[in-house]
Amino acid sequence: MDTKNDIKNKIATLREELHRHNYLYYVKNATDISDYAFDTQLKELEALEKEHPEFADSNSPTQRVGDDRDQRFEQVAHQYPMLSLANTYNDQELRDFDTRIRKTIGNDFTYVCELKFDGISISLRYQNGALTKAVTRGDGASGDDVTANVKTIRSIPLQLPPGDYPEFFEIRGEIYLPKDRFLKMNEEREQQGDKPFANPRNAAAGSLKLINSSAAAKRPLDCYLYYLMADQLPASSHYDNMQKALQWGFRVPDTMKRADNIDQALQYIAHWEENRHDLPYEIDGIVIKVDGLTHQQQLGFTAKSPRWAISYKYKAEQAVTKLKSIDFQVGRTGVVTPVANLEPVQLAGTTVKRASLHNQDIIKSLDLHYSDMVYVEKGGEIIPKITGADTEQRTPEAKPVTFITHCPECNTKLERKEGLAAHICPNENHCPPQQKGKFVHFISRKALNIEWLGEETIQLFLSQNLIETLPDLYELKTTDLVKLERLGEKSAQNIIESIEKSKSVPMQRVLYGLGIRFVGETVAKTLAKEIQSIEELAQTSVEELIEINDIGTRIAESLYSWFRTPENQKLVERLKHHGLQMEADKPTNSSNELDGLKIVATGKLTNFSRSEIKETIEKHGGKAVSAISAQTDFLLAGENAGDSKLNKANKLGVRIISEEEFLEMIN
Ligand code: IVH
Repeated sequence: MDTKNDIKNKIATLREELHRHNYLYYVKNATDISDYAFDTQLKELEALEKEHPEFADSNSPTQRVGDDRDQRFEQVAHQYPMLSLANTYNDQELRDFDTRIRKTIGNDFTYVCELKFDGISISLRYQNGALTKAVTRGDGASGDDVTANVKTIRSIPLQLPPGDYPEFFEIRGEIYLPKDRFLKMNEEREQQGDKPFANPRNAAAGSLKLINSSAAAKRPLDCYLYYLMADQLPASSHYDNMQKALQWGFRVPDTMKRADNIDQALQYIAHWEENRHDLPYEIDGIVIKVDGLTHQQQLGFTAKSPRWAISYKYKAEQAVTKLKSIDFQVGRTGVVTPVANLEPVQLAGTTVKRASLHNQDIIKSLDLHYSDMVYVEKGGEIIPKITGADTEQRTPEAKPVTFITHCPECNTKLERKEGLAAHICPNENHCPPQQKGKFVHFISRKALNIEWLGEETIQLFLSQNLIETLPDLYELKTTDLVKLERLGEKSAQNIIESIEKSKSVPMQRVLYGLGIRFVGETVAKTLAKEIQSIEELAQTSVEELIEINDIGTRIAESLYSWFRTPENQKLVERLKHHGLQMEADKPTNSSNELDGLKIVATGKLTNFSRSEIKETIEKHGGKAVSAISAQTDFLLAGENAGDSKLNKANKLGVRIISEEEFLEMIN
């Protein structure tokens, strides 16, 4: 029998643990516990507190929703508190919920079943049809003002067309990152040496909390809306109100369904448990709500959640399989990633054969041994991860998994910088995957854009010893290339021409192309704005670099040490010698080439964002206009330019120019 003191201690420990998990989840966007384990602990605490009201505390995690507030944003008080939902993981608990509802409102009511989107909840305020504020849940009473970032999400209307909506209303929903965009974003992050996000939810949360809204605009977020609030709502049921919101122009999920009773709700749950993996976004369960607003009012709220709604959460699917071996993969930036090879096993709709182990610390914390039977889960449903090993099935002779000490590709001793989890192969210029990766990055569209080269040709050139470091590309001759079996005269010429053409790409893209760790596209642009040339950058101290907005110690130190390496200094010198752009474009009125010309830009441009093209046109004396008329001088058409603009230009005799022609005009 536990003494009172034991119980008090147990309660304190659970509270502390849950506070810590809440902090990790809401503030750090990094969890180290499954939803199921968290909810189980929370329920245990709830039961103890119920049994022992003498230990009640209004700050207990059972009494509060989590807190995602971030001091860098302005805090805004919610007009209506933003609550959480009670959770259940099984049918019986859902039936108990149904019984409780019936006790209060009788048998004559309907439910609405909805998907539980796994993202970040958001509250949008509209005044006279205009979006005025977007606020995160925060601690339920006040949240972060993320209006600027939310305005970059295209499916959220900034201004509604005229309609029968209330003068003021609030609409709530979930901001999320679709699965395919998440995978693409992580791929790009890894290419740029940034840490990938563990799952779409963390990626969405991180994106929504970016201070720089133009950076946030590049994160492809989306939003579904599921709750409308106003003093006077248009209809008397939740479902009908959401249909109204749909008519007004909001993105309301069409997966939302009415259910006449709890059995129908359970069918909905079973259907999506089976089919959820085919959805283009992640869900972590189903939400069941009482439909009638009068019924909702009768049921009311607890301190944390409405009594008229509940969420049924799906357990993360788990499989057990054998750990066969571990590969250590070396990426473009030299980061060594351990990947587990598994006995193939079915999990969440796919066959899993491999799982990432991320780094040494993770391997250590899992205490993995070769041939272990391991538990595999889909972290955030997509990337399989090993969550533990079944130690009971381990044989005494099983050897623990240890991290390698030398690069599996070039045998150089690996390094691990203090404070970082990753092991790195420092032989960046000669380690084969790093060497090839450097070229592939250098020729890519956003860097030097050498269109006629691809990964395979680079591999071919490397294997034939035609190239070793980046400047070697500029010494290639058609005669070298035609000797290669797979290349004809024409392709050889095309390659040489596209290499030649790359000499005119602006400095920021050359800098990005160098593939310096942590120097992605945005950082390269920032640097090019502040620093006149790559040579000047090479002379800049860490302290001076940190003074530049958005450049932190990590980036500054990486740049500094890159430019201090004699081999890299030589590389920069050779690129300069070959005529690449090593100086930034002059910021002010650089020419009058476009004097008085009216230019409409459309489609996707390689060298400019929307605001940059406008700026560039104006810098050269032209006028950037948005609609084509007979007065327009040029239509600058990028990739995927819309037919309507092209047709109109043709009809009015407006000359259509490509991005290259435009660049020639201003040069
Ligand atoms: S309704 C008062 N509906 O789940 C009821 N919430 O655990 C407010 N969520 O904070 C919530 N999908 O971020 C509702 N279809 C849905 C949802 C949903 C996801 C999230 C929401 C909420 C959390 C509660």
